Amino acid sequence: MRKDFLWGGATAANQYEGGYNENGKGLSIADVERGSQLGVTRQIDDRVIEGVYYPSHVATDFYHNYKEDIALFAEMGFKCYRMSIAWTRIFPRGDEEKPNEEGLKFYDDVFDELLKYNIEPIVTLSHYETPLVLVQEYGSWRNRKLIDFFVNYAQTCFNRYQGKVKYWMTFNEINATLASPRPWHQAGIVYQENEDRWQTAIQASHHMLVASAKAVKLAHEIDPHNQVGCMLLIPESYAASCSPEDQIARRNKMALTFYYGDVHVRGRYTNTCQSLWKKYHTKVQMAKDDEKVLSEGIVDYIGFSYYFSSIEGKDLQQVEGNVFTGGKNPLLPATQWGWQIDPLGLRSVLNELYDRYQIPLFIVENGMGAVDSVEDGQIHDDYRIDYLKQHIQALKDAVEIDGVDLMGYTPWGCIDLVSASTGEMKKRYGFIYVDKDDQGHGTLKRMKKDSFYWYKKVIASQGEDLS
Ligand code: BG6
Repeated sequence: MRKDFLWGGATAANQYEGGYNENGKGLSIADVERGSQLGVTRQIDDRVIEGVYYPSHVATDFYHNYKEDIALFAEMGFKCYRMSIAWTRIFPRGDEEKPNEEGLKFYDDVFDELLKYNIEPIVTLSHYETPLVLVQEYGSWRNRKLIDFFVNYAQTCFNRYQGKVKYWMTFNEINATLASPRPWHQAGIVYQENEDRWQTAIQASHHMLVASAKAVKLAHEIDPHNQVGCMLLIPESYAASCSPEDQIARRNKMALTFYYGDVHVRGRYTNTCQSLWKKYHTKVQMAKDDEKVLSEGIVDYIGFSYYFSSIEGKDLQQVEGNVFTGGKNPLLPATQWGWQIDPLGLRSVLNELYDRYQIPLFIVENGMGAVDSVEDGQIHDDYRIDYLKQHIQALKDAVEIDGVDLMGYTPWGCIDLVSASTGEMKKRYGFIYVDKDDQGHGTLKRMKKDSFYWYKKVIASQGEDLS
């Protein structure tokens, strides 16, 4: 393992921060999303409707508790903390030229607090929180104008936080744009009825890839110490059988992810990408310089999320998962939300990604959503410890035996937060419990779970002591 291995945890503004309309913040698409139940897409309103509960509005209130929370991260020994900046805190509409100073100041305070404890901030610029004005007035990433708006936002952040933030990621799970499109996808697109979703998603992806490449180039120009990664959701899949057709089905599934990896890392649309255009009868409208821009904005590392695996083949029973779904694997156990637990799959994807791209990798999300119960002020989450232990062992094997270059590990939702797929609170990932329920009731009091003490030991021993 690297000596400077970045142990930490991960969150996103729209699921954790709250303060949705404070100090000049504008609405993002997440601020008009209602909660739902397992398997049902979350409903998006066109405005905030009085009396309706929107989970992002308070979330678990990092906005007012950041000092207390960061102190808890420090107590666990975090070397880094992955978070996102809410775009609408900096540009409330998304299309302004000048940023909102109060929004910028909030993140200054957060970064200063982290640095006080020598915790390195790892910052995602866009994590499922496209400004609502850009969605409603511009059609979101369908519209090429978003490239300039995003680049202005990115440049503002790189300039303002120079010397405080070194590690950046542009779009969270950018490949979610091409997965069975749900409206809350990274692209913030609410699809119309009868819309050719593949064409829209491919074109929107192009705009995002160009925006990302421009941001990467700018980040390097502003400060050569900056390291900018892409962020991919890895839907590890196996062929359902030894039939060659199932192998090809598996390959096709992974191609939806490599589509983005290839452009981010190789700086061009490869044969993998072009074959997808053919398969879905899509055409990418490019401006004159776009290919040059892509080739100049190659990322420094690949950040990725890994939660589960599934199988590909014919007539399979489908299982739940984050954005990408797949077939049920009879050999694997699953979480209470049906996500199949597969630590060895993590070792496998680390190898596959590193073999393909040969640049450093960073596991920026991993974890198990589970219902926790509080007994006498204690939370005995041995199931979470077990899940994380197995995944850390798998990543260690990938590094120490297979030679993969891995920068760090930030388990998802290191403190309880709102679930992205369902908006629930009861689906918890944290080492730190937050008292809040699915209707938004609770004191927001923080409590350490058993996994808090366990992870502290893991970090202190550099991953040696997993007991
Ligand atoms: C990832 C997202 O897809 O999965 C996170 O980047 C999300 O935002 C995480 O929270 C876990 O998904 P869920 O639906 O359990 O919150």
